[in-house]
Amino acid sequence: MKMDFWIFILFLLQLQTCAALEVTVPSNPETGMARSSVLLPCIFSLDFERMEPNSLSVRWIFGNKVLLMFTDRELTSYGRARLNKEAAMNGNATLLLYDLKVEDEGTYTCSVEYNGELRQKDVVLRVQASPSVDVASYPTTSDDEIHLDCLVKGFYPKEVKVTWYRNGKVVNKSDVIMGEPRREENGTYDVNSTLLVILSKVEKDDKAECQVEHLTLGTPIKEHFILTPIDLKRNSTTLIAVSVVSVFLVMAVCRGVYRAFCIRRKCKRGGGFDEFPTN
Ligand SMILES: *[C@@H]1O[C@H](CO)[C@@H](O)[C@H](O)[C@H]1NC(C)=O
Ligand SMILES: *[C@@H]1O[C@H](CO)[C@@H](O)[C@H](O)[C@H]1NC(C)=O
Ligand SMILES: *[C@@H]1O[C@H](CO)[C@@H](O)[C@H](O)[C@H]1NC(C)=O
Ligand SMILES: *[C@@H]1O[C@H](CO)[C@@H](O)[C@H](O)[C@H]1NC(C)=O
Repeated sequence: MKMDFWIFILFLLQLQTCAALEVTVPSNPETGMARSSVLLPCIFSLDFERMEPNSLSVRWIFGNKVLLMFTDRELTSYGRARLNKEAAMNGNATLLLYDLKVEDEGTYTCSVEYNGELRQKDVVLRVQASPSVDVASYPTTSDDEIHLDCLVKGFYPKEVKVTWYRNGKVVNKSDVIMGEPRREENGTYDVNSTLLVILSKVEKDDKAECQVEHLTLGTPIKEHFILTPIDLKRNSTTLIAVSVVSVFLVMAVCRGVYRAFCIRRKCKRGGGFDEFPTN
């Protein structure tokens, strides 16, 4: 009985030295920002003292594609990926992915092979991109209404919260048109939130503010737009200008008609037409 026990322990020890190849990766997803770089950790154990370097092979696989290969001490990369050869020989097969894109998001497999023994582990990568925010005003078909567009661009993931404030108070939902996020070619999203502004109700130093919350932002982005009653005045000035032009046009036409009449009458009566004032 006692003998059996020791044989069992010896068997376990034997197992440990034979099957020494062990791959370790983080169990939680790794996160990287678009356009920057990220490390995907992968550590493996071997008896490095007695290791045959030429029998070691490391592969990183993304989707069905081999992204990077390290065999016979030769490194081949098929993408924006790097690996430190020296570190890999010592059990650190951590992958460096650079110039991250949204499409890089997914599951990466760290595959280590030694003397015909193969071990693989998956690392999940999440990519994020921060939005940029711009507020601009646009005229509408109504003279008394403008639209303020809050254009939120280039963010990922898709979830975003846009809130309009008017003089510090949240704007009524009925005064806001929130668009549907639209996917760009590079995988990021754009969205557009429109605030309806009635110009005749604009007060002095009226401040409209667009606040954007996103996973990537510690504090929300705020962009404001100062509405001034001048917007309305400019519209009235245009109206007055248009009216003045109309009056002049009518006067000119009248004068033309008057002259035509006078010319005809002049033939008959010989009267002048100089009494109509000319500028
Ligand atoms: C593995 O290598 C990476 C750099 O490639 C380094 O950041 C990391 O600390 C290394 N990990 C260990 C356990 O040595
Ligand atoms: C994605 O494309 C948009 C417009 O084409 C650009 O503004 C944005 O910076 C790009 N984002 C990334 C992460 O490449
Ligand atoms: C929002 O709209 C409701 C109903 O249209 C109105 O009673 C309320 O006063 C509005 N709130 C603000 C802050 O304008
Ligand atoms: C924003 O949305 C409004 C309508 O909600 C649309 O008229 C406008 O063209 C959009 N602007 C952009 C830049 O997409």
